[in-house]
Amino acid sequence: MKASANGQFIITWEEPKSVAAEAYRILRTNLQFVSPDERPRTILVTSPGPGDGKSTITANLATSLAQAGVQVIAVNGDLRRPSLHNLFRVRNSVGLTSVLVGQATLDAALQQTMVPRVRVLPSGPIPPNPSELLGSRRMQAVLNELRELADLLLIDAPPVLAVTDAGLLARIVDACLLVISIGQTPRELAVSAKEQLEQVGARLLGVVANRVDRGTGGYYYYYYHESMLDGLARSQSWWQRLLQRRRTRRHSAGRPAAADD
Ligand SMILES: Nc1ncnc2c1ncn2[C@@H]1O[C@H](COP(=O)(O)OP(=O)(O)O)[C@@H](O)[C@H]1O
Ligand SMILES: [Mg+2]
Repeated sequence: MKASANGQFIITWEEPKSVAAEAYRILRTNLQFVSPDERPRTILVTSPGPGDGKSTITANLATSLAQAGVQVIAVNGDLRRPSLHNLFRVRNSVGLTSVLVGQATLDAALQQTMVPRVRVLPSGPIPPNPSELLGSRRMQAVLNELRELADLLLIDAPPVLAVTDAGLLARIVDACLLVISIGQTPRELAVSAKEQLEQVGARLLGVVANRVDRGTGGYYYYYYHESMLDGLARSQSWWQRLLQRRRTRRHSAGRPAAADD
């Protein structure tokens, strides 16, 4: 199993035939099912707390989408605990914060990764005032500029419940994905994270259940979990379509078909 010096790696890139990579292809396919009129161009990946798997899922989903031909920019929007640069093994001396304070152009800060069609905007130096920067008009302008440079922006966000940062970002993106860490995120926190996103008018695309152990032996395995539906995203047609697909698959033998198989 390969890993970078910091021990983090993107399984979708390193082991594209793994069960985990397949789970990301399912997530990708479901994003691609969102009707073209409603298809979001900027998606915030957030979760109730730290360590739920936001950065992991952002990096793997970006990779999986790129493998299907989508031009992706992954933006490190977590200015407190940045990690996208480690996952994609790019330098972090210049990034979003440098652009926001006018010390670098977007061109200088955006970096091509080892994954074709994935560029990363790392956090840049950690600022003393993350919320102020993320809530600035300049941040909106930067997102608008980035939109023109790729098919899809995935923004690795800070946790919803810790600080205001995620809420500030949720206001200026098209949609959000809420990551829930199974066995780790208490249900009340999952629900209040969802409510906080709704309070700022965010569109919740769905819930991604991370760390689901299905006895596959794959420690990186995750998938959507039906039991998380209660009180979460039940009304989302995207989510319902996804469940429908899962039910169908459960009754059919063999590997689920992936878009690029
Ligand atoms: N499904 C998973 N199985 C095993 N380890 C995971 C899984 N998802 C995330 N991790 C690990 O948990 C840690 C926190 O994940 P991370 O994506 O950095 O969370 P966040 O960005 O929400 O803080 C990382 O070391 C990551 O490699
Ligand atoms: Mg993170």
